[in-house]
Amino acid sequence: MEQRGSGCQCQLLMALLSHLMLAVVAELETHAKVVGGHPISIEVVPYQVSVRLRAFDEIEFGAGHMCSGTVISQRVVCSAAHCFADNATYPPVYNDPEDYIVVGGSSHLNTFGRFGQVYLVQEIIGHEAYHPFTLENDIALVFLNSYIPWQHYTTRALPLATQQVQPGTLCLISGWGNPFRALHQGVVPIQDQRLCSFIYNHLPISQICAGYLRGGIDACKGDSGGPLVCRGQLTGIVSWGVDCGRDFFPGVYTNVSHFLKWIERANSSLDYSKFLKMHPFNGVDQRCFDFYVVISCLILAISSV
Ligand SMILES: *[C@@H]1O[C@H](CO)[C@@H](O)[C@H](O)[C@H]1NC(C)=O
Ligand SMILES: *[C@@H]1O[C@H](CO)[C@@H](O)[C@H](O)[C@H]1NC(C)=O
Ligand SMILES: *[C@@H]1O[C@H](CO)[C@@H](O)[C@H](O)[C@H]1NC(C)=O
Repeated sequence: MEQRGSGCQCQLLMALLSHLMLAVVAELETHAKVVGGHPISIEVVPYQVSVRLRAFDEIEFGAGHMCSGTVISQRVVCSAAHCFADNATYPPVYNDPEDYIVVGGSSHLNTFGRFGQVYLVQEIIGHEAYHPFTLENDIALVFLNSYIPWQHYTTRALPLATQQVQPGTLCLISGWGNPFRALHQGVVPIQDQRLCSFIYNHLPISQICAGYLRGGIDACKGDSGGPLVCRGQLTGIVSWGVDCGRDFFPGVYTNVSHFLKWIERANSSLDYSKFLKMHPFNGVDQRCFDFYVVISCLILAISSV
């Protein structure tokens, strides 16, 4: 069993490794993408955001990507608890919100695009009963330091699931969790709960399993916290699986409708009148960085003439 984001104490290391070893990983995990599996642009999934480790993104924009999230209201992103849990302890301890940034409105990990926005995180409310071994209660709310402006069609909130989904319902998964680090989308059917309980020995009602028994289309590392969307509603949160897209092992998602009360309670505990003074994000868009390098070189070249 593996988490779909980099969890535990190895988060920082994982982010660094995943960046440094991109070429190697691309060789090894060619199957490992949201398959079915076509590239899309952010307008198709405007509710999707990239959750990143600020320290890495300040060195190179995009390098800190570790999880996804879903915008559920103007200051709140819903994601997976394991993206924020400090270590393998129970009860969980959550990392400092200042360690993270949320990037919305951009299809690409390493550029802002025209309508890309960076948000600082004011508070993280991870589920108090998230369990690092069973990955039960793998849900967290990320409270942004500012409101998301709705004027761009690249950022929108997704409504939460209000009803139970039947097995066989076709749903959408999306994320950057593939070797190309490009936003992909795939279609997966909700699997029968009893069948998944059999496959995984036990599957609580708080988890949903979705995917094909023949494998192929699935979420993968880096997709954690991202959305499983059924009938236009946030139905699941990418949580864990066995490999990615392997036959007989559908992906497992946090069952959002099971946590509606929890979401409501967590959201009502947030102080919307407060905007903490936080360190501004000091990253540079990779294109600006390239531009900056070119200009610097030009200036150097000219001044050396
Ligand atoms: C892990 O969590 C415990 C509290 O349960 C804390 O005392 C400890 O510092 C944490 N370890 C790391 C490496 O963050
Ligand atoms: C999800 O949780 C709801 C509410 O507890 C429950 O009715 C439903 O059966 C669960 N599973 C699925 C697949 O919706
Ligand atoms: C959270 O609470 C705010 C303020 O009451 C509300 O505007 C927003 O819709 C709520 N979000 C969710 C996802 O319930």
